[in-house]
Amino acid sequence: MSYQQTYQRSLSDPNGFWSEAADLIDWYESPEIVLDESAAPLYRWFTGGVVNTCYNAIDRHVDGGRADQLALVYDSPVTDTVRKYTYTELRDEVAKLAGALRSLGVDKGDRVIIYMPMVPEAAMAMLACARLGAVHSVVFGGFAANELATRIDDAKPKAVMAASCGIEPGRIVEYKPLLDSAIDLADHKPDSVLMLQRPQARAELIAGRDHDWAESVAAADPADCVPVAATDPLYILYTSGTTGVPKGIVRDNGGHAVALAWSMKNIYNVDPGEAYWAASDVGWVVGHSYIVYAPLLHGCTSILYEGKPVGTPDPGAFWRVISEHGVAVLFTAPTAFRAIKRDDPDAEHLARYELDKFRTLFLAGERCDPDTLHWAEDKLGVPVIDHWWQTESGWPMISNPMGIEPLPVKPGSPAVPVPGYDVRVLDDEGAEVASGDIGAIVVKLPLPPGTLPTLWNADDRYREAYLERFPGHYLSGDAGFKDEDGYVSIMSRIDDIINVAGHRLSTGAMEEVIADHVDVAECAVIGVADQLKGQLPVGFVVLKSGADRKSDEVVDELVAMMRERIGPVAAFKQAAVVERLPKTRSGKILRGTMRSIADNEDWTMPATIDDPVILDEIGAALEGMGYAGG
Ligand code: COA
Ligand code: AMP
Repeated sequence: MSYQQTYQRSLSDPNGFWSEAADLIDWYESPEIVLDESAAPLYRWFTGGVVNTCYNAIDRHVDGGRADQLALVYDSPVTDTVRKYTYTELRDEVAKLAGALRSLGVDKGDRVIIYMPMVPEAAMAMLACARLGAVHSVVFGGFAANELATRIDDAKPKAVMAASCGIEPGRIVEYKPLLDSAIDLADHKPDSVLMLQRPQARAELIAGRDHDWAESVAAADPADCVPVAATDPLYILYTSGTTGVPKGIVRDNGGHAVALAWSMKNIYNVDPGEAYWAASDVGWVVGHSYIVYAPLLHGCTSILYEGKPVGTPDPGAFWRVISEHGVAVLFTAPTAFRAIKRDDPDAEHLARYELDKFRTLFLAGERCDPDTLHWAEDKLGVPVIDHWWQTESGWPMISNPMGIEPLPVKPGSPAVPVPGYDVRVLDDEGAEVASGDIGAIVVKLPLPPGTLPTLWNADDRYREAYLERFPGHYLSGDAGFKDEDGYVSIMSRIDDIINVAGHRLSTGAMEEVIADHVDVAECAVIGVADQLKGQLPVGFVVLKSGADRKSDEVVDELVAMMRERIGPVAAFKQAAVVERLPKTRSGKILRGTMRSIADNEDWTMPATIDDPVILDEIGAALEGMGYAGG
């Protein structure tokens, strides 16, 4: 069937389409209802179905002929380690870990926070929770204690699974002090912590609360898979919203397993038994879906890489991993390729490796600039596929459907809506815009299986944030256009989210941090274009009258506060103290105008500006930081 036929069928007969896809996984009880519209606009999939995600990801492959096939390969240039697990070995490790969790009192429905770097035990921790029907919530290691505390208070975990440290090039990040201070800060106190001791920095354990991972696993009885409802939550993953309070995206068990299993062949065109590598982090949605769940659900070998695209040890790192582990498909963020291109523009390191099994490169997480796309195509000689999705969707919404029908690549566009997603571009009044015109990118409800059913304990916030702006549609928060062939281009956000090295961050949350500085009267944070990371945050600060600290000191303190409160991943390193912020006469800060000046784009003086002269000061400050043509 062609892409067009498949796509049309997915929209005209969602029940038939997704009930066929549901055969890709094993059920204890088949679903009674495929698309459940009873609580619309909050839709559910596969109501009545009973399933276990861990069983589908691991056990059924052991029983079904893949017992000795590699399931997981851990490749860590930062510790000089490679460790490999067959499906049987992975099942045994996960069953024991689940047993250890159970002995800590973790049961179906309980939440478990996972705060771990890119070690195989992080994937095992997720799968062990899934095995018990417990709900995991992974927090990215680059977030600070305060962000971890916010998530602990929202998810109210019974236990935390953590590692003693992460390894960043040139420094060891001790996780235990961050975890301890997060638990101190949080109102909710987890009963126990399961701590993986890494030799690079061992953690002090608190008697009664903290348990040694290896000892607990050694003492545990293996736990079996616990059947759960298809609609029960598998995990919560927090992502930046427009305020400092992150949104707890909920993922269910049944729809998620079906959608991910379906995506592996139809979008990524990868077969069971092949090696699939998502070079991301288990802390992000890409890591959840395409390091842990999808490759295993599909019977692939998944690569879990603890390293960077450059510097660990050189810009040939990706080619080494592809070559050594026979990777067929790589998925990463464009920023990783920009880093490789910057350090090795002629891709000289490529010549050192044989990439004979490598077929396709997929990129997502941020806009893919045509230069990077062409460079990767030229150097690798394989199709380079930009595709678009979000934490909320959990799997691609717009992509070139490589396993259905590879379509021509148009640089700058992630191509066409994925079956199941009725993607539209609307104007402010909710009418569809003409092709080529920019508008809000929305998906007509219902969203397909695997997408968020709601926010954790926050149905109202879910409706308000996603469903109310254009009734009957899911608001993606991105803006863009569709061309006459139906290809969609994603151009920008309609809110204050920025994208730094493929990481989604809220400038609103950063402004909340700055506003807490004693000398700050008001502030604005904008995302400015950066050649490597796509965007970087820049702050503008107005000091309180009478503030006696020097501007430089305040800026240094703000940079330190941001690292302390949000984390190094915010990459907040630049700010300027100004006399006033540019505003409209009604007091709205003109962030868009500031951004256009920073990026050296054409801009027009807003008619409603209160005092145009202020923009000269902003322009000068930006030039001083190397932006605005400076
Ligand atoms: N734990 C603790 N700190 C972390 C961390 C983690 N898991 N991950 C990143 N950090 C820190 C880094 O050490 C860095 O700190 P610094 O300010 O002291 O240097 C900061 O957070 C920013 O990290 P990063 O975004 O990785 O930038 P970088 O300059 O170190 O590296 C790239 C730049 C392009 C190489 C890097 O961003 C990259 O590999 N990107 C790939 C994108 C990706 O995987 N995106 C996921 C979505 S698909
Ligand atoms: P996250 O939820 O962290 O995965 O971030 C999702 C956001 O990243 C989207 O809403 C977009 O703003 C951006 N994004 C992801 N993929 C792409 C892409 N292929 N092109 C442009 N922007 C993208």
